[in-house]
Amino acid sequence: MTAFLLLVAPSANRVYADAAPALMAAEARSLATAFIDGEVTVEATRIAGVDYLRVSADEIGPVGVRALSNLSAVHALFEAEGELLRPVAADRVDAYPSDLLTIQKYPGKTNEQLTRLLLNVTAAATSRPQRLLDGTLDVLDPMCGRGTTLNLALTYGLDVTGVDLDKRDLEAYETFLKTWLRQTRLKHTVRTSAIRTAGQHRGRRLDVEVAPSKEDFKAGRTQRLTYLGTDTTRLEGLVRSGAFDVVVTDTPYGVQHGSHGDRIARNPLELLDSALPGWVRALRTGGAVGLSYNRHVAPPHELADLLEQHGLTVVGDPADDTFRHRVDASIDRDVIVARKGSGRDVVG
Ligand SMILES: C[S@@+](CC[C@H](N)C(=O)[O-])C[C@H]1O[C@@H](n2cnc3c(N)ncnc32)[C@H](O)[C@@H]1O
Repeated sequence: MTAFLLLVAPSANRVYADAAPALMAAEARSLATAFIDGEVTVEATRIAGVDYLRVSADEIGPVGVRALSNLSAVHALFEAEGELLRPVAADRVDAYPSDLLTIQKYPGKTNEQLTRLLLNVTAAATSRPQRLLDGTLDVLDPMCGRGTTLNLALTYGLDVTGVDLDKRDLEAYETFLKTWLRQTRLKHTVRTSAIRTAGQHRGRRLDVEVAPSKEDFKAGRTQRLTYLGTDTTRLEGLVRSGAFDVVVTDTPYGVQHGSHGDRIARNPLELLDSALPGWVRALRTGGAVGLSYNRHVAPPHELADLLEQHGLTVVGDPADDTFRHRVDASIDRDVIVARKGSGRDVVG
């Protein structure tokens, strides 16, 4: 039996400081099932007053170490040797400098750690979770705001498409990304164009091609990022059917606290009902949808029923509190994952 201890990262974010150990335990369970063979146990533990997760299995090979290294709140990894901890080099997929994820600060930004958790558990629920770590997972964030998921997907070395209706979000993201790419001296191309379907103007799009090094760019080992500034409930003709492994998004919270994210949102369940046909079409069979949502405006059972009505299979029990955490008085946040067609039951 091998045991790894994961030191939970300290967080300046109040929500995460309190919730991180429990959230990362649930996240580690879903990733461990997808990436580590045989029976795995994950338990929160304290050593000398410090929070760790203990992950035990018969064998945790290199793929397991890589998966654990990329959990949302992992700070350092150790292998247990009796009472002692031997440091293990983290194998984090970091294609670009970490400030890509941290520089942007704005009201309504989805916490980077939650975004990572959501992408991880959603990818783990697909029939090909290894794509998360080998650079081939295709990601769609159909309500991407100013791009936290887009930046995370780039960090993971993945291709990604984002959609948002708020023009100011596309403008702000475009300005940020262009400046960051220039300052980071990464070889890249940026193209903007109008979106038209059936002769109708539908918004603007941004297409970026980038690679972590000049050599990669020259050799065509590039990543593609697309941002469609349009309505997510009308994606037909704009995204290919079956093109994505995961659809991940932080849904509007349906509360008036002045954050940019809720200015154009209607009732979140109604919005999802209109958007899901397009999202499900965009997903390949064996792919998964992962949503973070506010339980105050979208009760878990109603959301689970809605996902099932759109032909998806909810993973785990929507009533369990595995990923539930309180953000503030008006936001009781949770995560739900649902699969399209066949796959393995790995979350919850
Ligand atoms: C919670 S925010 C996402 C924030 C984002 N993850 C970030 O970190 O910037 C929800 C987003 O849904 C978008 N939205 C609401 N209704 C939409 C629609 N019909 N089509 C596209 N986007 C929509 C809002 O503009 C908002 O940016």
